[in-house]
Amino acid sequence: MNTLRGQKVILQRFTLDDVTDTYIGWLNDPDVVRYSNQRFRRHDYDTCLSYLRSFDDGPNLFVSVRTFGGEPIGTMTVYRSLPHGTADVGILIGKKCFWGGGFGQDAWNLMLGWLLGQPAIRKVTAGTLACNRGMVRVMERSGMELEGVRRRQELVDGEPVDLMLYGKFAR
Ligand SMILES: CC(C)(COP(=O)(O)OP(=O)(O)OC[C@H]1O[C@@H](n2cnc3c(N)ncnc32)[C@H](O)[C@@H]1OP(=O)(O)O)[C@@H](O)C(=O)NCCC(=O)NCCS
Repeated sequence: MNTLRGQKVILQRFTLDDVTDTYIGWLNDPDVVRYSNQRFRRHDYDTCLSYLRSFDDGPNLFVSVRTFGGEPIGTMTVYRSLPHGTADVGILIGKKCFWGGGFGQDAWNLMLGWLLGQPAIRKVTAGTLACNRGMVRVMERSGMELEGVRRRQELVDGEPVDLMLYGKFAR
């Protein structure tokens, strides 16, 4: 993937230089990982390095989300299945002061547009907990459709919540 430029953000490959204290701080921030299973573990330089290395030599992508000024504000992941022509996408805007500013939506639209333009990709998928209203909104606004609900799949603050599964086809 070459660098992609949207209306508010730039997407580029996440590299070793992106494993900073700020980045590690996002993963250990209870607000940022509130709806993610990352909240059950503590991250440090070594765990981040080994996660980054898991993207070496495979079809999956780990991406840095940056402002036009070059400031890293989040990350995205793309897990591709080459045999099936699918890509499952995730996003984390770690810099909380950027929440609600349209940066997540722009990054999402940009990545989906790029993926769905690849001849090898026929479908993109993503999922989130129903209580993650921002993420549900981002997916619906990108034109993804609800494909299924795993009822009461995970616990958030002790309460069972639905896992919402979305998809979008290239054509
Ligand atoms: C979910 C997330 C990606 C949204 O990104 P963002 O940059 O804040 O979202 P945007 O500003 O682009 O907003 C997109 C839409 O979602 C809405 N939204 C964003 N955060 C919201 C929230 N907490 N509650 C309700 N709606 C919210 C926005 O209002 C906007 O809709 P609108 O234009 O109709 O008002 C971001 O908050 C995030 O990374 N959170 C932490 C990690 C996470 O939960 N990732 C997803 C795991 S599945």
